[in-house]
Parts: sequence; structure tokens; C-alpha cells
Amino acid sequence: MNVFPFLSQKDKCDPMKDHLDKLQQLKQEALQGGGEKRVQKQHRLGKLTARERLERLLDAGSFQELGMFVKHQVSDFGMDKKRFAGDAVVTGFGTIDGREVAVFAQDFTVLGGTFSEMHARKIVQLQDLALAAGRPIIGLMDSGGARIQEGIRGLAGYGAMFTRNVLASGVVPQLSLMLGPTAGGSVYAPALTDFVIMVRNASYMFLTGPEVVHAVTGEEVTTEELGGAMVHNAHSGVAHFLADDEGHALEMTKLLLSYLPQNNTEDPPRAVCTDPPDRQDESLLEIVPSDENQPYDVKRVIQAVVDYGSFLEVQPYFARNAVVGFARMDGHVVGVVANQPAFLAGVLDIDASDKIAHFIRICDAFNIPIITFVDTPGFLPGVNQEHYGVIRHGAKIIYAYVEATTPKISVVLRKAMGGAYIAMSSKEMRSDLSFAWPTAQIAVMGAEGAVRILHRKDLARADDPARREAEFVQKFRETFFNPYIAAELGFIDDIIDPRETRPRLIRSLAYLRTKVQQNPPKKHGLMPV
Ligand code: HXC
Repeated sequence: MNVFPFLSQKDKCDPMKDHLDKLQQLKQEALQGGGEKRVQKQHRLGKLTARERLERLLDAGSFQELGMFVKHQVSDFGMDKKRFAGDAVVTGFGTIDGREVAVFAQDFTVLGGTFSEMHARKIVQLQDLALAAGRPIIGLMDSGGARIQEGIRGLAGYGAMFTRNVLASGVVPQLSLMLGPTAGGSVYAPALTDFVIMVRNASYMFLTGPEVVHAVTGEEVTTEELGGAMVHNAHSGVAHFLADDEGHALEMTKLLLSYLPQNNTEDPPRAVCTDPPDRQDESLLEIVPSDENQPYDVKRVIQAVVDYGSFLEVQPYFARNAVVGFARMDGHVVGVVANQPAFLAGVLDIDASDKIAHFIRICDAFNIPIITFVDTPGFLPGVNQEHYGVIRHGAKIIYAYVEATTPKISVVLRKAMGGAYIAMSSKEMRSDLSFAWPTAQIAVMGAEGAVRILHRKDLARADDPARREAEFVQKFRETFFNPYIAAELGFIDDIIDPRETRPRLIRSLAYLRTKVQQNPPKKHGLMPV
């Protein structure tokens, strides 16, 4: 490829010619990555090269590469004969849908994409520049981890990179695409970023591989079972999105970025909205069953309320009893948090608490208002949950909602019981506005449990305890299982016809757009972990 196609014949006779020829030759070499054979191997595995990935991710012709000539500085273990321009990572900046982003793509064709001192320096420089300019950072990961031949140099590089990950956290969005292996300490770089996208059957993440696991614990496990894309999407909660292939992962990245601002001083971009802001959706009358124990899919409520087709669910496979994601209302980005009655009745447990708390903090960091749809019987009771710390995990939801200064609006759809009523963006926890549907049941606890505590002696004395209990339950429900007492006390701002939910939320969001709120000055809070 001629990297200077614009040179005319006359230019080529210029005294600069030798210099330019040399430059072109060196650039040409760098563009080869690890060479034809390794590129072919990468393709055989269904993987693109680092440059091909960047070409697909960025707007055509927008990429400005940095550090193309950087090489490692190590000669031990014959490394002096394995010096490749770029040192296993392509870094630079470009645009996605016209918006500037910083990108790095690890090049597995060069020394297995391994992380060296110079590789680290390139990424660190990019992170520093992105932080100074307020641009999102996107990492395309495909690496065998620390380059073993470099010893401490690569490890120190990780330290420098992690430092920037942390300093950039909450300032600019950080996205990690896992497009191959990530092992050892290098899993912590993506773990420190805001969003991790993994590719099914192609990417995996673990601290120690199957051999080490077997040696230490005797467990037999494959790489896929230990740290495959589904493991981290559905079980560990490390990943936020599951892509079917690399192309899908790159498209997801572009979509996700469209919901995020460039940095914490900006708002996310507003999209053109063709869905009328005053649309009243009749389906909202049908979705929530009147029987409080009947499940339903809360995503149907979300989809009927937000701009048509705009809901992007985050972590759809993890803690499915909670739903979080981005959407738009009249073109403006919002974060949506909801309990999911279709899964475990929408209880709050350890994983759901972590998922909700993390998402709230992302929204708050990036000036995204939060809408919360409440329908939960409460925190999940049980020895296992208590022993693994549902108290401290559940506390994260409370902490995150209270700490968040972004506009917050809650809508109680059905059950809002006990601690979960308080935790799920209640008025007293700095929710700006709280609405309820007429079907809402805002109560201290479920009727059966309450009656057994309040009327234990009466029930023990009763001739027909079951009938007596049913009577008490009925009375308790009539008294407390409605939104009117909460509205009477001002804890609910209005009880709304479900069909009005979209227009009421859009009007409220418009009003709150200029909200200013600050927390007391402090070095940082101490969020439960
Ligand atoms: C040096 C490495 C390497 C490494 C791979 N290579 N990993 N070189 N250091 N960490 C080299 C291979 O020797 C090979 O070189 C080339 O990269 C391609 O690797 P292959 O093994 O041929 O590829 P593949 O079969 O696809 O297997 C990929 C792999 C495997 C699963 C990633 O290479 C592997 O298990 N690597 C080690 C992973 C690991 O344990 N990393 C942790 C390092 S310690 P040639 O020249 O033969 O083609 C660490 C600590 C960091 O990361 C702590 C930070 C806080």
C-alpha cells in the first residue's frame, strides 16, 4: 500500500524523496503487524487484526495513529530479534459518528498482543491525552497478558495503566471490548472501566487459567467454563454486554457511545425523536396483572414508555431480577432501573443490588437522569443471602441513590414493600419526584407476614385460625395495599393513570433538566463494598 498516494512524479524527484521513501517503507512494515502467517492465523480463528478492527469501529479516514514506531527495549531471551514497530498495540484517536474518541487495539499477531513496558507507555499516553481533552477511551483487548520476557517492566506498565483507569473513572467513559484472551493481572484494566463487552466463544477473562486452577484446587475446567463470555455476562457480573461476534461487538460499542456524553461536563447527545412526547400507551393498562403474585415482564412497561425502540439493556443476563439500561425520552438520554417481577418475583438480592448501584453511579457520573420503576416484594430473605452480605450489598443501592445528584424520578407500578420501598429511589432518599400507579401497594411488609406478627395471639385463640387469618389479611390489604396513604402523607407526588406515564415523565424531566444539587464537601464517601 502506498501511504503517500498524493505524491506526484515531480514530488518524487524532490530531494525529500529518500526520506519519504524510507518513511513509507517503515510505515509499510509497521502495517504488517506480526506478518502474513500470523494475520492468517488470526483470520482462521474468526478474529480481525487490530487495524481491521479500528477500521470498522471508526469513521472512515478519521484515525490518527500515535506511536507507530515504538519498539520494545529488551534483549533478554532473544527478544532483540523480535522487535516489531508499534509493539503489539495500535493507539491513536479518531471519530465515531463524528465524535472524537481515544482508541487502542492490542495486536495479537505481534508477540501474542503481550503487554510490555513500551506497549504500556503507548496506552498510558493515550489515556493521559483523553483525560486532558475529555474524550471517551475505548480499549480493544486481545492479549496473552504481561510479556513474560520483560519481567517487572510490564508489571510496572500495568500499574501505570490502572492508575489512569482509576483517574479517568467518572471523568470520561471507558469501554473495554474483549476480543480474545485476557489473563493474569491484565483483567483488572477492563474491570476498572465502565463497560465490558465480551464476544461469545472468542473472549475469556480469568486471573489464573485452567492449569493453575487444576494444580491448586484439583478442579477440572475448560477456559470457556472458567472465564468465557457467558460466565462473565450471566454469573460473575464482570461483563455488561454479550456480542455474537466481533462485528457485533463493534456495533454495540457505537450504539452504547450514542447514549454517553464525551465527559462528565457534558450531557449525552440528544437524538431526533419521532415518537410523540404526549403518546399515551393503552397497553400499559394491560401489562401489570391485578393479582400481585402474577409475574409480568417489566421490560414491556419500559418499552411502552420510552422513545420507541430506544431501550438498550445493560447486563441483560446478570441478576435478571433487576433491569437496568439506557433509553431516550423525547430524544434525551435517561437511565432506567426496574425490578423484574418475571424473574424471582423481582426481589432484591446481592447481585441485583450490585447491578443497580453500579448503574446508578454511571448515570450520575455522566449526567444521565434516572427513572426507577418499582415492583418488588423486598430484599430476598435467606441464610445464604445474609451470610454473603445482602446487608452491605443492599446498602449500596441506598448509598448510590442518595449520593446521586442527577434528576431522579420513581414510578411505583405495584409492590413497594418494606426496605425495598425505601431503597428504590423513595422520596425521602432524594428522589426528585415520585409517582405511583393506582395499582401500587406501598406497605411496610407483605400482608400474611404482617398479620402473623400483629395477630399471633388472636390467631392462637381462634376457633378457625385459617379463616381468622384470611380476615385479618383482607383487612390489612384494604388498609395498606394502595398508594393513597403514601400520597396523603406526601411521599408520592401524584397517582397517575398508567397511560399518562410517558407524558408525565417527559414533562418532569424537562422541568428537572436544570436541576443543581451538591453533596457536602468531602474527599470521598465510603460506599459499602
Ligand atoms: C510472552 C507470550 C505470552 C506471554 C503468549 N505469548 N502469551 N509471550 N508472554 N504472556 C506468545 C506465545 O509464546 C506465542 O509466541 C504468541 O504469543 C502467540 O501465543 P500462542 O500461545 O501461540 O496463541 P494461542 O494458542 O492462541 O494461545 C493464547 C494464550 C496463550 C491462551 C493467551 O498464549 C497463553 O496462555 N499465554 C499465557 C497467558 C498468561 O498466563 N498470561 C499471564 C502472564 S502474567 P510464538 O512466538 O510462539 O508464536 C500477567 C501478570 C500481570 O499477566 C499482572 C499485572 C498486575
